[in-house]
Amino acid sequence: MSKRKAPQESPNEGITDFLTELANYERNVNRAIHKYNAYRKAASVISKYPDKIKNGNEAKKLDGVGAKIAEKIDEFLSTGKLRKIEKIRSDDTSSSINFLTRVTGIGPAAARKFVEEGVKTLDDLKKIEHKLNHHQQIGLKYFEDFEKRIPRAEMLKMQDLILSELEKLDPEYIGTVCGSFRRGAESSGDIDILLTHPNFTSESTKQPKLLHAVVDHLQGTGFITDTLSKGEAKFMGVCKLPDGDEGSDCLHRRIDIRLIPKDQYYCGVLYFTGSDIFNKNMRTHALEKGFTLNEYTIRPLGVTGVAGEPLPVDSEQDIFEYIEWRYREPKDRSE
Ligand code: TTP
Ligand code: MG
Repeated sequence: MSKRKAPQESPNEGITDFLTELANYERNVNRAIHKYNAYRKAASVISKYPDKIKNGNEAKKLDGVGAKIAEKIDEFLSTGKLRKIEKIRSDDTSSSINFLTRVTGIGPAAARKFVEEGVKTLDDLKKIEHKLNHHQQIGLKYFEDFEKRIPRAEMLKMQDLILSELEKLDPEYIGTVCGSFRRGAESSGDIDILLTHPNFTSESTKQPKLLHAVVDHLQGTGFITDTLSKGEAKFMGVCKLPDGDEGSDCLHRRIDIRLIPKDQYYCGVLYFTGSDIFNKNMRTHALEKGFTLNEYTIRPLGVTGVAGEPLPVDSEQDIFEYIEWRYREPKDRSE
């Protein structure tokens, strides 16, 4: 999971930019996740709108744009700025908290605590490095690298490397690079890999070795450089391609690898392909059709609303069929 989102281009970029800034402010500074979601949803629907929005009323016709956001759009269109944003930007505490959450390992709560203790900049963090946890230390160490998005060409190279190492280790492994990459994005914030093996199902005992063998192997080749956390089912860490022959230095990148039982694999692939907004919409549609869908399973809901046993799933298509929804290719899953 990554915090940097791809820049958007649309005739309403000014509006979507300020909505995204407000969304991040609500999440990072106020920890108001509902407001964060509301601003993100509005930004998403407006970014898809083909025409240049002329006023708040026009925007209000879109699903997800309410009266308060319409008012802000009017203010922005008539004055070229937004007082609320100016105020947030000029507030030292808010902007420091916002900044610190850009370090991986520092969430909104930790950021606020640091700022209250007078720790506001990267230099301040470096001075108290010994007080940071391991994850935050790595976040600080690679701060500049992690801020940069990963070009698709590099994502393709990493995919090739990972899949060919998996094949060498055990050809029965199934691996999928999910996230924005799978949706065809020109750049990604991080690399999200899902892993399974036919010997591993939710009925069988846990097999953390299946994950750890892959991680150890990728560490052995030098591709994985650091570990943030390593559990039975999830590895979070840092990776880097070997430097190119032409002297081109590759950057350190955030990588997550998840091991999923085979019978839950496609619900996982669907979930981690996203986007998160698409996932929400699909779950809503599933509920309307009487199913509950999450990153592990799809289950029918009985008349009393109690979920039944997980349905068998052998592909992403199966999930769309259960809920009678037209299949969407990953590239068509932005919302
Ligand atoms: P991310 O890596 O955060 O998102 P991304 O890969 O789409 O974008 P980026 O290029 O910036 O890395 O998470 C991977 C997927 O996990 C995401 O596409 C959908 C799913 N997800 C959710 O459904 N809800 C969430 O809250 C998060 C964080 C992720
Ligand atoms: Mg990602």
